[in-house]
Amino acid sequence: MCGIVGYIGSSKASNVLLEGLSRLEYRGYDSAGLCLLEDGVIEITRSVGKLVNLKEAVKDRDFKATAGIGHTRWATHGKPSFENAHPHKSKNISLVHNGIIENYLLLKEKLTEKGYSFKSETDTEVIAHLIESLYEGDLLKAVQAALAELKGSYALGVISEKEPDKVIVARKDSPLVLGVGSGEMFAASDIPAVLSHTRTFVFLEDGDVAEITRNGYTIYDAAGSAVDRETKNIDWNPVMAEKAGYRHFMQKEINEQPRALIDTIRGKYSLESGDVFFDLSKDLKESLKDITRIVIVACGTSWHAGLVGKFYIEKFARIPVEVDIASEYRYRDLIADEKLLFIAISQSGETADTLSAMRMVKKMGAKVISICNVVGSSIARESHSVIYTHAGPEIGVASTKAFTTQVASLFLFAMYLGRQRETMSAGESREFLKELVGIPDKLEHVLRLDGEIEDLAKKYKDASDFLYLGRNVNYPIALEGALKLKEISYIHAEGYPAGEMKHGPIALIDSELPVFVIAVKGSVYDKTASNVEEVKARDGIVIAIVTEGDTELAGKADHIIEVPDVPEELSVFLTVTATQIFAYHCANLLGLDVDQPRNLAKSVTVE
Ligand code: F6R
Repeated sequence: MCGIVGYIGSSKASNVLLEGLSRLEYRGYDSAGLCLLEDGVIEITRSVGKLVNLKEAVKDRDFKATAGIGHTRWATHGKPSFENAHPHKSKNISLVHNGIIENYLLLKEKLTEKGYSFKSETDTEVIAHLIESLYEGDLLKAVQAALAELKGSYALGVISEKEPDKVIVARKDSPLVLGVGSGEMFAASDIPAVLSHTRTFVFLEDGDVAEITRNGYTIYDAAGSAVDRETKNIDWNPVMAEKAGYRHFMQKEINEQPRALIDTIRGKYSLESGDVFFDLSKDLKESLKDITRIVIVACGTSWHAGLVGKFYIEKFARIPVEVDIASEYRYRDLIADEKLLFIAISQSGETADTLSAMRMVKKMGAKVISICNVVGSSIARESHSVIYTHAGPEIGVASTKAFTTQVASLFLFAMYLGRQRETMSAGESREFLKELVGIPDKLEHVLRLDGEIEDLAKKYKDASDFLYLGRNVNYPIALEGALKLKEISYIHAEGYPAGEMKHGPIALIDSELPVFVIAVKGSVYDKTASNVEEVKARDGIVIAIVTEGDTELAGKADHIIEVPDVPEELSVFLTVTATQIFAYHCANLLGLDVDQPRNLAKSVTVE
């Protein structure tokens, strides 16, 4: 997830672009850059790290340019570095990009054969050279021709010294809006970037390409025909704007999950063959065939993702998996050798205990894969191979989209191992992949239950304790639901395997105790339904998360939250989202600091 901004008008482009980038910095801050078009000549300034470094680099410059593009980067292909910072350039064409180009290696090979040389490791530089190679005097046409060859997602801003009076922008599966001014036009990843200049916006659709000039804009659809898109007036206040209209980053990130999941799984599977692909080193791929055991180590929410991953790997690949908390694992007498695959899961990639555990087993010869969100983080750098989740920056301290994208990565990785070991057939894999691809849409459905779940939060936000019960793959979701509630609303909550309730926690149940029971259809449905009876028999309040159309539990529970019908293995995406929304509303209704709960930090770099 990066941020892009474009401007053409009569004001100083550098000021408009830098202001826009500062509002987009939440989308990534690995590096930032500007490309200004002054007297028909392109000038690019880039710097590594936060935007403040770019501002410092240009502070004494008096740019006159009235057109340009800017970028703030969240690294996906290639580490955070000066060379990988945008804008990228090919002869007299320069561009900024947000997204992931899946076929960039193939295109890079072809362009190298044609004599283009590459200065960065990015997929973006490929687009710049591709457009240049197709340029025959019309920038719009060259961009359209290049887009036809790209697979993946993009929001692009392109300018050329040869056509200084226009900026070409395009989008597919990455956000991009046009801002309409008087004698000036804007383009940005997000409305807030240019909201101080205009309130009139045009939302581009997937496949759209637009030419923006000082006199206005023309939009072409994916087939190349000029199209009209509706303009909208936006009346957000500045605080709402920063969070794209949501009250808190956590709420925004919960709602971003369908998009984040699409980005996580993109390019990693083929629905036709049922195969799953990961960019792992050749040696590691080979040694995976010989591993006899897997240990997954993480902390907090990432540990919960690991617990879900165990179900997937044991089911699909039939390899025994242990899941451990990093701060426990690292202080035991470890058993590790080259037959062990160690998976470290960490959103930040900097969690001290996880990093330490990883270093220890690596020294003992284990193979190490990490699942990280932050590119170039310590855990990502030190593992033999890394699977990036592509959730984009997570700003709310309580982890939401990082969790669901970790789980999606584990699901695909388990299928990858299963296919490699032939414990999973191509037919079975195709079926699961089809279901996985349908999850983002079904998640949208759960997000639409927001009002209903908020009503439940209004009713129970003053309870002093909660119990969360689940079984099988939804047992870790019970743990995660309870963790979300306690960390942001400060209400005591416990997650438990539903079958374990009668061995202790049942003593807590009385008419004051709300109990979330995750009871979606699947292999343990009947057992979990019995647990609902047990809670009701002791006057507990049951909030059941059930599969749509479940009349049996609807008659027994005090409240139900219905989620779409999906295979049990994939239900976790839907059930966890319902618990995230509940926790969010409790904290918000209690007037607490949702995004920065007391005593917590986003990245725990101390033991
Ligand atoms: C809870 C939460 C934490 C983190 C934990 C691990 O919402 O965010 O429990 O999951 O601190 O952090 P990472 O994944 O960065 O290693």
